[in-house]
Amino acid sequence: MPRGIRKSFFDEPRACLAPMAGYSDAPFRLICAGLGADFAFTGLVSADGLARGMKKSAALLDRLEGEAPLGVQLFGANPETLARSAAIAGGSGASFVDLNFGCPVKKVVTKNGGAALMRDLVLMERIARAVVAEVGLPVTAKIRSGWSAGERNFLEAGAMLEGCGIAAITLHPRPRSQGFSGPAHWEDIARLRESLSIPVIANGDVKSAADYREITRVTGCASVMIGRGAIGNPFIFREIRAVAEGREPRGASNAERLDVLERHVKLQVAHFGERLGIREMRKFYRWYLKSFEGIKKYRGELTGVETCAEVLESLACIREELEKNGRSAPQKAS
Ligand SMILES: Cc1cc2nc3c(=O)[nH]c(=O)nc-3n(C[C@H](O)[C@H](O)[C@H](O)COP(=O)(O)O)c2cc1C
Repeated sequence: MPRGIRKSFFDEPRACLAPMAGYSDAPFRLICAGLGADFAFTGLVSADGLARGMKKSAALLDRLEGEAPLGVQLFGANPETLARSAAIAGGSGASFVDLNFGCPVKKVVTKNGGAALMRDLVLMERIARAVVAEVGLPVTAKIRSGWSAGERNFLEAGAMLEGCGIAAITLHPRPRSQGFSGPAHWEDIARLRESLSIPVIANGDVKSAADYREITRVTGCASVMIGRGAIGNPFIFREIRAVAEGREPRGASNAERLDVLERHVKLQVAHFGERLGIREMRKFYRWYLKSFEGIKKYRGELTGVETCAEVLESLACIREELEKNGRSAPQKAS
């Protein structure tokens, strides 16, 4: 398992799986690593929960053999608690620790965590300094462009975080008030990168290898973070790697989509147990099967069953139908 990455790790061209609560868990990270994701993040982990020894929080640190270097993403508002939980994350085998300063969710911001810290750079600085001083691993941070369109202080936050010894910053270029919709302002990422000496990881609306080409051109960033574009489409990492290496990207065939989906189901069940694993898989089906004709029927079949055997049987039927209709051919790269 890769550990303790060098600080310069983030200077090199890389594509990573974004922190996504409920999605970026060990099975999906392993699938993405197998298709070329260079590193990955856990979803949000509560620093309070981890420091208090909550099982649910600790389980989010679980990793699988073969995963890419992993950043454990912590949220909270108490510097001492964050430092303590960062040490726990470091001890669990994380390659680096990431601090969440961008989560817009009410439950998080009402406790002064996530994006609320974009409004309190004094506290953000105390947190960053406490965590950097505590862990012997690189510490990264993920910020938004600000709290609202009128309070876009990402340049100020970035300069402060660099001064604290943060190794790299991801900018999700939307203010908290914008949530996840509306345009992602890639030009803000370019401005942040130009203003700092530490690497900036570009994020926001990368859904294809063509988007990767464009975001690296606009921002000048080496590393790119992919969230929604990877859900049910981990092949995006293979396509990006091809583009980064000057090769023509190859899209996934429907047959390959089914193979990877089947592997995902098996990993999920092995990791979470059958009941939870199958339930957690349901949100992925529509994305894996997006390019399939008659997707509604397939999805209905898959989401209606409870056991792994039934899911595998449904997948076998879908595969048979595809072959019968000659629709398992490769698709064009995105
Ligand atoms: C379902 C979902 C869960 C997310 N959870 C987190 C999270 O736990 N931590 C975080 O920093 N961002 C989280 N995000 C935001 C993503 O990391 C990313 O910044 C955002 O989706 C924009 O990138 P994208 O357009 O590539 O998806 C989440 C996004 C989605 C869609």
